[in-house]
Amino acid sequence: MSARIIDGKAYAASLGERITGALAPFVEKTGRRPGLAVVLVGADPASEVYVRSKAKMAKQLGMESFEHVLPETATQEELLGLIADLNADEAVDGILVQLPLPGHLDASSVISAIEPAKDVDGLHPINAGLLASGLPGLVSCTPLGCLMLIKSARETLSGAEAIVVGRSILVGKPMAQLLLAENATVTIAHSRTRDLASRVRQADIVVAAVGQAEMIKGDWVKPGATVIDVGTSRLLRDGKKTLVGDVEFDRAAKQAGAITPVPGGVGPMTIMSLMHNALVAAYQRKGFPAPALW
Ligand code: GUN
Repeated sequence: MSARIIDGKAYAASLGERITGALAPFVEKTGRRPGLAVVLVGADPASEVYVRSKAKMAKQLGMESFEHVLPETATQEELLGLIADLNADEAVDGILVQLPLPGHLDASSVISAIEPAKDVDGLHPINAGLLASGLPGLVSCTPLGCLMLIKSARETLSGAEAIVVGRSILVGKPMAQLLLAENATVTIAHSRTRDLASRVRQADIVVAAVGQAEMIKGDWVKPGATVIDVGTSRLLRDGKKTLVGDVEFDRAAKQAGAITPVPGGVGPMTIMSLMHNALVAAYQRKGFPAPALW
Protein backbone atom coordinates (compact mmCIF):
# COMPACT_ATOMS: atom_id res chain seq x y z
CA MET A 1 0.00 0.00 0.00
CA SER A 2 1.16 3.50 -0.68
CA ALA A 3 -0.25 6.66 0.87
CA ARG A 4 -1.97 9.49 -0.93
CA ILE A 5 0.32 12.52 -0.64
CA ILE A 6 -1.65 15.44 0.79
CA ASP A 7 -0.76 18.46 -1.34
CA GLY A 8 -0.68 21.39 1.08
CA LYS A 9 0.59 23.74 -1.60
CA ALA A 10 -2.39 23.06 -3.86
CA TYR A 11 -4.88 23.27 -0.97
CA ALA A 12 -3.34 26.58 0.17
CA ALA A 13 -3.48 27.99 -3.36
CA SER A 14 -7.18 27.20 -3.70
CA LEU A 15 -7.92 28.60 -0.24
CA GLY A 16 -6.03 31.74 -1.29
CA GLU A 17 -8.33 32.14 -4.28
CA ARG A 18 -11.37 31.82 -2.04
CA ILE A 19 -9.90 34.44 0.33
CA THR A 20 -9.36 36.87 -2.53
CA GLY A 21 -12.91 36.23 -3.71
CA ALA A 22 -14.25 36.97 -0.23
CA LEU A 23 -12.47 40.34 -0.01
CA ALA A 24 -14.78 42.14 -2.44
CA PRO A 25 -17.91 42.17 -0.22
CA PHE A 26 -15.79 43.51 2.66
CA VAL A 27 -14.33 46.30 0.52
CA GLU A 28 -17.82 47.14 -0.72
CA LYS A 29 -19.21 47.38 2.81
CA THR A 30 -16.32 49.23 4.44
CA GLY A 31 -14.52 51.11 1.67
CA ARG A 32 -11.19 49.57 2.69
CA ARG A 33 -9.31 46.32 2.43
CA PRO A 34 -8.65 44.06 5.44
CA GLY A 35 -5.33 45.01 7.05
CA LEU A 36 -2.70 42.69 8.53
CA ALA A 37 0.15 44.05 10.66
CA VAL A 38 3.24 41.89 11.13
CA VAL A 39 5.79 42.80 13.79
CA LEU A 40 9.38 41.58 13.83
CA VAL A 41 11.85 42.37 16.59
CA GLY A 42 15.49 41.88 15.67
CA ALA A 43 17.07 40.40 12.56
CA ASP A 44 16.85 36.62 12.90
CA PRO A 45 17.26 35.51 9.27
CA ALA A 46 14.59 32.77 9.42
CA SER A 47 12.08 35.12 11.08
CA GLU A 48 12.86 37.83 8.50
CA VAL A 49 11.99 35.36 5.73
CA TYR A 50 8.72 34.32 7.46
CA VAL A 51 7.62 37.90 8.11
CA ARG A 52 8.43 39.00 4.59
CA SER A 53 6.53 36.09 3.08
CA LYS A 54 3.49 36.78 5.29
CA ALA A 55 3.45 40.44 4.24
CA LYS A 56 3.94 39.51 0.59
CA MET A 57 1.13 36.95 0.65
CA ALA A 58 -1.27 39.45 2.26
CA LYS A 59 -0.58 41.93 -0.55
CA GLN A 60 -0.77 39.23 -3.21
CA LEU A 61 -4.25 38.22 -2.04
CA GLY A 62 -5.40 41.85 -2.03
CA MET A 63 -5.14 42.77 1.65
CA GLU A 64 -3.39 45.76 3.17
CA SER A 65 -0.09 44.86 4.81
CA PHE A 66 1.71 46.81 7.51
CA GLU A 67 5.25 45.75 8.38
CA HIS A 68 6.93 46.90 11.59
CA VAL A 69 10.54 46.01 12.29
CA LEU A 70 11.98 46.97 15.67
CA PRO A 71 15.70 46.69 16.46
CA GLU A 72 17.04 43.76 18.50
CA THR A 73 17.55 46.26 21.35
CA ALA A 74 13.88 47.32 21.50
CA THR A 75 12.48 47.45 25.03
CA GLN A 76 9.33 45.79 26.33
CA GLU A 77 7.77 49.26 26.66
CA GLU A 78 8.53 50.12 23.03
CA LEU A 79 7.03 46.87 21.81
CA LEU A 80 3.95 47.28 24.02
CA GLY A 81 3.63 50.85 22.74
CA LEU A 82 3.57 49.60 19.15
CA ILE A 83 0.96 46.95 20.05
CA ALA A 84 -1.21 49.65 21.66
CA ASP A 85 -0.99 51.76 18.49
CA LEU A 86 -1.92 48.78 16.30
CA ASN A 87 -4.81 47.88 18.63
CA ALA A 88 -6.17 51.41 18.21
CA ASP A 89 -5.61 51.59 14.44
CA GLU A 90 -8.90 51.09 12.56
CA ALA A 91 -7.06 50.04 9.40
CA VAL A 92 -5.48 47.09 11.21
CA ASP A 93 -7.67 43.98 11.54
CA GLY A 94 -4.97 41.48 12.44
CA ILE A 95 -1.74 41.70 14.44
CA LEU A 96 0.98 39.08 14.37
CA VAL A 97 4.14 39.35 16.47
CA GLN A 98 6.71 36.97 15.03
CA LEU A 99 8.08 34.53 17.60
CA PRO A 100 10.51 33.84 19.12
CA LEU A 101 11.24 37.29 20.54
CA PRO A 102 14.74 38.27 21.71
CA GLY A 103 15.45 36.82 25.17
CA HIS A 104 15.07 40.07 27.13
CA LEU A 105 11.44 40.44 26.03
CA ASP A 106 8.48 38.70 27.69
CA ALA A 107 6.50 37.05 24.89
CA SER A 108 3.49 36.09 26.96
CA SER A 109 2.80 39.63 28.17
CA VAL A 110 3.24 40.90 24.60
CA ILE A 111 0.72 38.34 23.30
CA SER A 112 -1.68 39.23 26.11
CA ALA A 113 -1.46 42.89 25.10
CA ILE A 114 -2.86 42.20 21.63
CA GLU A 115 -6.56 43.00 21.26
CA PRO A 116 -8.13 39.48 21.15
CA ALA A 117 -10.31 40.43 18.15
CA LYS A 118 -7.08 41.20 16.22
CA ASP A 119 -5.10 38.20 17.49
CA VAL A 120 -4.81 36.37 14.15
CA ASP A 121 -2.27 33.97 15.70
CA GLY A 122 -4.93 32.73 18.14
CA LEU A 123 -2.40 32.82 20.97
CA HIS A 124 -4.07 35.30 23.32
CA PRO A 125 -5.37 33.52 26.45
CA ILE A 126 -8.89 34.68 25.51
CA ASN A 127 -8.72 32.93 22.15
CA ALA A 128 -7.02 29.85 23.62
CA GLY A 129 -9.76 29.78 26.27
CA LEU A 130 -12.56 30.16 23.71
CA LEU A 131 -11.13 27.20 21.79
CA ALA A 132 -10.88 25.11 24.96
CA SER A 133 -14.49 26.04 25.77
CA GLY A 134 -15.69 25.03 22.31
CA LEU A 135 -16.65 28.63 21.51
CA PRO A 136 -15.88 30.55 18.32
CA GLY A 137 -12.68 32.60 18.31
CA LEU A 138 -9.48 33.02 16.34
CA VAL A 139 -7.61 29.71 16.07
CA SER A 140 -3.85 29.31 15.92
CA CYS A 141 -2.75 29.12 12.26
CA THR A 142 -0.71 25.92 12.08
CA PRO A 143 -3.25 23.63 13.79
CA LEU A 144 -6.07 25.24 11.80
CA GLY A 145 -4.19 24.45 8.58
CA CYS A 146 -3.58 20.89 9.81
CA LEU A 147 -7.30 20.42 10.50
CA MET A 148 -8.17 21.61 6.99
CA LEU A 149 -5.77 19.03 5.55
CA ILE A 150 -7.06 16.22 7.80
CA LYS A 151 -10.61 17.00 6.73
CA SER A 152 -9.56 16.99 3.08
CA ALA A 153 -8.11 13.50 3.54
CA ARG A 154 -10.78 11.78 5.67
CA GLU A 155 -14.50 11.39 5.39
CA THR A 156 -15.01 11.73 9.12
CA LEU A 157 -13.02 12.44 12.26
CA SER A 158 -15.81 11.38 14.59
CA GLY A 159 -14.71 8.49 16.79
CA ALA A 160 -11.24 8.36 15.22
CA GLU A 161 -8.25 7.73 17.48
CA ALA A 162 -5.95 10.75 17.16
CA ILE A 163 -2.53 11.34 18.65
CA VAL A 164 -0.87 14.75 18.79
CA VAL A 165 2.82 14.48 19.49
CA GLY A 166 3.89 17.78 21.06
CA ARG A 167 2.15 20.05 23.57
CA SER A 168 3.17 23.59 22.59
CA ILE A 169 0.68 26.46 22.84
CA LEU A 170 1.39 27.23 19.16
CA VAL A 171 0.53 23.76 17.82
CA GLY A 172 0.02 20.76 20.12
CA LYS A 173 -2.57 22.07 22.57
CA PRO A 174 -4.80 23.88 20.07
CA MET A 175 -4.53 20.92 17.66
CA ALA A 176 -5.81 18.59 20.37
CA GLN A 177 -8.73 20.93 21.06
CA LEU A 178 -9.66 21.13 17.38
CA LEU A 179 -9.62 17.33 17.02
CA LEU A 180 -11.68 16.96 20.17
CA ALA A 181 -14.23 19.41 18.78
CA GLU A 182 -14.50 17.09 15.75
CA ASN A 183 -15.31 14.21 18.14
CA ALA A 184 -11.99 12.40 17.75
CA THR A 185 -10.58 10.55 20.77
CA VAL A 186 -7.41 12.52 21.43
CA THR A 187 -4.12 11.60 23.08
CA ILE A 188 -1.51 14.30 23.64
CA ALA A 189 1.97 12.79 23.77
CA HIS A 190 5.16 14.61 24.74
CA SER A 191 8.77 14.10 25.76
CA ARG A 192 7.83 12.21 28.95
CA THR A 193 5.29 9.90 27.30
CA ARG A 194 6.12 6.22 27.83
CA ASP A 195 6.12 3.88 24.85
CA LEU A 196 5.24 6.41 22.18
CA ALA A 197 5.53 3.73 19.49
CA SER A 198 2.61 1.68 20.80
CA ARG A 199 0.41 4.78 21.15
CA VAL A 200 1.17 5.93 17.60
CA ARG A 201 0.41 2.38 16.37
CA GLN A 202 -3.18 2.74 17.60
CA ALA A 203 -3.82 6.10 15.96
CA ASP A 204 -6.00 6.72 12.91
CA ILE A 205 -4.70 10.30 12.84
CA VAL A 206 -1.13 11.29 13.76
CA VAL A 207 -0.11 14.95 14.09
CA ALA A 208 3.63 15.20 14.65
CA ALA A 209 4.77 18.52 16.11
CA VAL A 210 7.88 17.87 18.16
CA GLY A 211 10.58 19.52 16.05
CA GLN A 212 12.88 16.47 16.11
CA ALA A 213 13.96 15.15 12.74
CA GLU A 214 12.28 11.83 11.86
CA MET A 215 11.60 10.83 15.47
CA ILE A 216 8.26 9.19 14.54
CA LYS A 217 9.34 5.98 12.83
CA GLY A 218 7.56 4.90 9.68
CA ASP A 219 6.78 1.41 10.95
CA TRP A 220 4.86 2.88 13.91
CA VAL A 221 2.19 4.18 11.54
CA LYS A 222 -1.08 2.21 11.52
CA PRO A 223 -2.01 1.00 8.04
CA GLY A 224 -4.37 3.53 6.46
CA ALA A 225 -3.72 6.29 9.03
CA THR A 226 -3.71 10.01 8.19
CA VAL A 227 -0.29 11.49 9.02
CA ILE A 228 0.25 15.23 9.37
CA ASP A 229 3.86 16.34 9.77
CA VAL A 230 4.38 19.80 11.26
CA GLY A 231 8.15 19.43 11.75
CA THR A 232 10.81 21.03 9.59
CA SER A 233 14.43 20.22 10.39
CA ARG A 234 17.47 20.72 8.25
CA LEU A 235 19.73 17.69 7.92
CA LEU A 236 22.93 17.02 6.04
CA ARG A 237 22.17 13.83 4.13
CA ASP A 238 24.61 12.34 1.63
CA GLY A 239 26.44 15.66 1.76
CA LYS A 240 23.30 17.59 0.78
CA LYS A 241 21.23 19.95 2.94
CA THR A 242 17.81 18.32 3.22
CA LEU A 243 14.57 19.47 4.82
CA VAL A 244 12.87 16.68 6.77
CA GLY A 245 9.87 16.45 9.06
CA ASP A 246 9.19 14.79 12.42
CA VAL A 247 8.10 11.61 10.61
CA GLU A 248 10.30 9.17 8.78
CA PHE A 249 8.55 9.89 5.50
CA ASP A 250 9.53 7.12 3.08
CA ARG A 251 8.63 4.23 5.40
CA ALA A 252 5.54 5.98 6.78
CA ALA A 253 4.24 6.61 3.25
CA LYS A 254 4.21 2.86 2.64
CA GLN A 255 1.76 2.33 5.52
CA ALA A 256 -0.29 5.50 5.82
CA GLY A 257 -3.54 6.17 3.97
CA ALA A 258 -2.60 9.81 3.46
CA ILE A 259 0.47 11.80 4.51
CA THR A 260 1.78 15.36 4.21
CA PRO A 261 5.20 15.83 2.62
CA VAL A 262 7.92 18.14 3.97
CA PRO A 263 8.18 20.60 2.33
CA GLY A 264 4.84 21.20 0.59
CA GLY A 265 2.47 19.93 3.28
CA VAL A 266 1.72 21.92 6.44
CA GLY A 267 4.10 24.82 5.65
CA PRO A 268 2.05 26.48 2.90
CA MET A 269 -1.11 25.96 4.97
CA THR A 270 0.20 27.87 7.99
CA ILE A 271 0.61 31.10 6.07
CA MET A 272 -2.72 30.70 4.27
CA SER A 273 -4.49 30.03 7.58
CA LEU A 274 -3.05 33.33 8.77
CA MET A 275 -4.57 35.05 5.73
CA HIS A 276 -7.85 33.25 6.47
CA ASN A 277 -7.74 34.49 10.07
CA ALA A 278 -7.01 38.06 8.95
CA LEU A 279 -10.09 37.96 6.72
CA VAL A 280 -12.25 36.45 9.48
CA ALA A 281 -10.99 39.05 11.99
CA ALA A 282 -11.78 41.87 9.55
CA TYR A 283 -15.36 40.69 9.00
CA GLN A 284 -16.03 39.98 12.66
CA ARG A 285 -14.59 43.27 13.89
CA LYS A 286 -17.10 45.04 11.66
CA GLY A 287 -19.94 42.87 12.96
CA PHE A 288 -20.41 40.95 9.70
CA PRO A 289 -20.59 37.14 9.65
CA ALA A 290 -17.30 35.74 8.33
CA PRO A 291 -17.61 33.80 5.09
CA ALA A 292 -17.10 30.03 5.42
CA LEU A 293 -14.15 29.25 3.17
CA TRP A 294 -13.35 25.63 3.98
N1 GUN B 1 7.09 31.57 14.71
C1 GUN B 1 6.98 30.31 14.20
N2 GUN B 1 5.69 30.02 13.96
C2 GUN B 1 4.97 31.09 14.32
C3 GUN B 1 3.58 31.40 14.30
O1 GUN B 1 2.73 30.61 13.90
N3 GUN B 1 3.25 32.62 14.76
C4 GUN B 1 4.16 33.49 15.22
N4 GUN B 1 3.74 34.67 15.66
N5 GUN B 1 5.45 33.27 15.24
C5 GUN B 1 5.85 32.06 14.80
